[in-house]
Amino acid sequence: MNLSTIILAAGKGSRMLSKLPKVLHKVASRPLIGHITDLIKSLGTDVKEKVAVIGAEMQDLHEYIMMQDGTVKCVVQEERLGTGHAVKVGLEHVKNDGDVLVLYGDTPFLKPGTIKKMHAMLNLEERNALVILGFIAKDPALYGRLVINNHDELTEIIEFLDCTDEQKKINICNSGVMLINSKYIRKLLAQIKPQNAKQEYYLTDLVHIARKEGLICRYITVDEFEAVAINSREELARAEAIIQNQLRKKFIANGVTLIDQNTVYFAMDTIIENDVIIHPNVFFGPGVTIKSGTEIKPFSHIEGATIGANAIIGPFARIRTGTNLGNKVRIGNFVEIKNSEIKDETKINHLSYIGDAKVGENVNIGAGTITCNYDGFNKYATHIMDGVFIGSNTALIAPITIGECAMVAAGSVITQDVGSNDLAVARSKQENLEGKALTLRNKKMREREKNKPYL
Ligand code: UD1
Ligand code: CA
Repeated sequence: MNLSTIILAAGKGSRMLSKLPKVLHKVASRPLIGHITDLIKSLGTDVKEKVAVIGAEMQDLHEYIMMQDGTVKCVVQEERLGTGHAVKVGLEHVKNDGDVLVLYGDTPFLKPGTIKKMHAMLNLEERNALVILGFIAKDPALYGRLVINNHDELTEIIEFLDCTDEQKKINICNSGVMLINSKYIRKLLAQIKPQNAKQEYYLTDLVHIARKEGLICRYITVDEFEAVAINSREELARAEAIIQNQLRKKFIANGVTLIDQNTVYFAMDTIIENDVIIHPNVFFGPGVTIKSGTEIKPFSHIEGATIGANAIIGPFARIRTGTNLGNKVRIGNFVEIKNSEIKDETKINHLSYIGDAKVGENVNIGAGTITCNYDGFNKYATHIMDGVFIGSNTALIAPITIGECAMVAAGSVITQDVGSNDLAVARSKQENLEGKALTLRNKKMREREKNKPYL
């Protein structure tokens, strides 16, 4: 294939009732537009050029697209005059002579195989002007309708607002995805006029324009879910539910145990090896990898982290971005780990915060240990070497290093480095006053007797 892609994403998405551009809303922790840039990536070298058409005020969208794929050219459509106009604006930046694939930023579930099928169909005949991706809609709602003749050619796409009552009964709908023959595209686009209910330049007008030129328009259909566009929060929620179910099925089929699958949420890029057991109520944000044999106990929240093999995480663990846990690590209840590396067989079992730390192997971190990594201005690192034992309720004031096999006494506030094999005790010294409890108690009892009111 030799393709140029134009992604349309300048629409405001007013039905989302949001300050955020519609295509930055997320499904499975990934913005809608990210699903599209991934689709394009999976088409590999077949795609020679990539353009995204965005709105002038969408700086955040521009940045996100650049981060996802630096080879996409972002082009601003100053005035939103319709899908046909948006493609024209995009096409001005296409130098390549490949067929033009138009995608919408709000259609996240398209599969690469579908694009290949469209391409194969377009190239069947010289006179094929374009191929539309259609779907049979259960509830055709506001979609454009595909009018098809006896030769199975597409003769027209009629927008919902321009449909007669009879045409509204058609249930084959336009997904918006269109593959256009490079030979004809510029000539056809030039003929679109804003003569319709919305007074916009409709890309869909290419169909009857092409037929007037004696060319043929084709279509293929896919499952409704694959073609669905997200226009509202309701549709976003529905899409999320469907994709979560697909992800759950995928992991179960790959040898992962989900004790209560309906309560576990994955991100699009979650990687989980076989023989992992996931308990109920676990949430995976983006960027998580979990190695074989690990168990994730209930109510854990994990994002941006790699977790080694045969580890036990949770219940109630929070693992945050930049964390790398070794094999056989144990992270227990109410423990938060951020941007830290924790080596094999280390245990942090209860009530701790470990941030910006490097922790060696076989370390035991007692309940309530806190790395004090932030002074209100800067973040500082904590280094805990192999074999260290940190007693409960210790505050480690970073930057700090605890040497190999050192021990820290419970209740310490550690402000200076501890050498290897040393024992640090940093708490006020205890004093025991002999018999003082007894005399104190007697004194208090006498006072209480004296103050008793007469009844
Ligand atoms: C469009 C189709 C309709 C199809 C539906 C599928 C047209 C005329 N209609 O209708 O047949 O069933 O999509 O979802 O094409 N956009 C721009 N610039 C613009 C206008 C739109 O970039 O000036 C972008 C939007 O961001 C969006 C896409 O194009 O990603 C579709 O626009 P939208 O207004 O949602 O089109 P629909 O009315 O839904
Ligand atoms: Ca739409």
